[in-house]
Order: sequence, then C-alpha cells, then structure tokens
Amino acid sequence: MKNHEFILTLFLASAVLIGALFYYIYSSSLKPKSENEGIQNPTQKRYFFFLVYIAVFAILFSITIPKSPYYLFADKAPDKVVYVAAKQFMFVLSEQAIDAKNPKSEKIVIQSGKPVEFRVTSLDVNHGFAIYNSKAELVTQTQAMPGYVNRLRWVFNEPGTYNILCLEFCGSAHAYMRSSFIVK
Ligand code: CUA
Repeated sequence: MKNHEFILTLFLASAVLIGALFYYIYSSSLKPKSENEGIQNPTQKRYFFFLVYIAVFAILFSITIPKSPYYLFADKAPDKVVYVAAKQFMFVLSEQAIDAKNPKSEKIVIQSGKPVEFRVTSLDVNHGFAIYNSKAELVTQTQAMPGYVNRLRWVFNEPGTYNILCLEFCGSAHAYMRSSFIVK
C-alpha cells in the first residue's frame, strides 16, 4: 500500500468512527420512552466516553504525526542551500542570499542523493513553491510567504530536470509562474 493510500484509508476509517460517535450522541440524546428509562449514571458514561475519545485520537496522532513532512530530513545537515524568492510571476533561485531590491536568478544544479535545503520566501503576495519531477508528479512543496522563510529539505534520488510551479492562485499570470532546476 502506498503512503497516500494508507493515509486515505486511515482518514476514511476515522471518518466512519466519528460518524458513529455522532450517531451515538444523537441517539442517546433522544427523549427516553418512559419515565424510568433513559441514561443510567450519565456522568460515568460521559467519563468513559471521553476516555475512549482520547484513546482513539492518541492512536491516530501517534500514527500520522511522525509521517508529517516537517520531520523529513530534520536530522540531516543540508549539502546545499538554495534561496528562493517568489514574486509575481516568477521564481528567483540562487545559491546566495537574495537581495530583495535587486533579485538575480541563477541556474541551480543539485547533486542527487544529497540533502538540499530550499529557503523559500515571497517578495509580494503568497505563492506556492511546488517541485514536480520529469513525469509531472508532485514531489514536495511549501508555501512562499512575504515576511517568512520556509525551509524545505529534500533528497532527490532521480537525476533529471525538475519543474517548479506556483501552487497558490496569486494573480492573472499565476498559471505561467514557473521555473526549473537540474538534479545530476
Ligand atoms: Cu504565484 Cu500563483
């Protein structure tokens, strides 16, 4: 099972569980049929229910959080740092820190199998920084935000030309906002 299929299965399973939970709450909140029926000892029942709820979410979090991209390659020092400044409607890529007043782009070549760190920011509005392989499959992505630097670490194992596309609608020429780099 591929990683995204696993996450989807987990999501659907938890959706069913949450649906069942809401159904249970709904059905137990209906009026009792006669005076003597109804919930026995509601406080204890709520406490038990709360424990089950906490347990289910603890299990789900412990499975999914370690798969979160924030922890990817966190323990590996980058072999190369690439600075990225997004602006309407281009990406400026450089191995040197980018001067916001005079942004200059360079051709970027990345060594395959070695960790690279992209330091991504924006010089105007929010953009997306999405890296696609030569088969047009999304490899990894982060947001480019004015006033923030988002670090994105990755190890490219397949040599080739990678395209960068903007993944957030940022204006009239959003669809044409792209760049590329080479992995060898
Ligand atoms: Cu930049 Cu869409």
